[in-house]
Amino acid sequence: AEQRVELKERIKRLLKEKQAVLVSHYYVDADLQDLAEETGGCVSDSLEMARFGRDHPAKTLIVAGVRFMGETAKILSPEKRILMPDLDATCSLDLGCPADEFTAYCDAHPDRTVVVYANTSAAVKARADWMVTSSIGLDIVKHLHEQGKKILWAPDKHLGSYIQKQTGADMLLWQGSCLVHDEFKGVELELLKAQYPEAKILVHPESPANVVALADVVGSTTQIINAAVESDCDTFIVATDNGILHKMRAAAPGKRFIEAPTAGNSATCKSCAHCPWMAMNGLQNLADLLENMDQPEVSAANEIFVDAEIGKQAVTSITRMLDFAA
Ligand code: 13P
Ligand code: SF4
Repeated sequence: AEQRVELKERIKRLLKEKQAVLVSHYYVDADLQDLAEETGGCVSDSLEMARFGRDHPAKTLIVAGVRFMGETAKILSPEKRILMPDLDATCSLDLGCPADEFTAYCDAHPDRTVVVYANTSAAVKARADWMVTSSIGLDIVKHLHEQGKKILWAPDKHLGSYIQKQTGADMLLWQGSCLVHDEFKGVELELLKAQYPEAKILVHPESPANVVALADVVGSTTQIINAAVESDCDTFIVATDNGILHKMRAAAPGKRFIEAPTAGNSATCKSCAHCPWMAMNGLQNLADLLENMDQPEVSAANEIFVDAEIGKQAVTSITRMLDFAA
């Protein structure tokens, strides 16, 4: 614990010294979330991370999250230096949607408006008309549907089919999924709800349809936290990465949060509902990164680069979303 406190102090000092700003996602280590908040950075969902990174005047952003979040920051601010504690932190949705296969799929359906989830590579975003995050995907597809557009959606099939059902839009769905949310189980969730009939069920839309069907609130990480804060209820069952519980407990003290069941049984499996790639961000590698960020080796090992041409194309689809959200 001593070492943890020392590392946090060192990180705070280095962030100031190097004039770098920390942007953390709600699924990373609790200390990294607190550090972002305490040092004038931000901890949030992927939409807010993108907006905050774009608008902040700092020349260096440290992104504690997964690779697509760092790439989005770079695409929006090519002049900034974007660093990540571990560049191997990827996402099963991104891995499951290779740019060449995706491009062929789009080419085969030229009549469709291409909408991609944020959890994709820069090259996939470059091929898209719109990029969306979980907090705004539903509103954007509704808007496109009202304009009579047919949609090609990628890569998350659960989020895609949830949006399809809600909007009635004509959507062709890529068959990707999040390995964390895919593990939540509907039947077991129903049994848990029977034990806590007063509990409200909060679900991230990357979860399977039979889990989403039981939800009182479906939303992005920020929307789930806000729902818990604003609700009169004081017990919640939460179906998303358990990294979020740190912020939920801090934001709604005294309320009770229960993890939704996964295949591995949440009572015994501590890591089922936690993203292995988000978990690659830690105090030690963050401190090392800050300490060494002026060394050339760091550029190769920790800096995000996006091909300028791809970046130029991808920025359109991301900016459309940010303008829509504004
Ligand atoms: P949010 O946009 O809801 O934060 O979710 C993004 C995500 O999938 C992180 O894994
Ligand atoms: Fe990707 Fe799922 Fe991890 Fe989010 S939690 S980064 S969607 S694998």
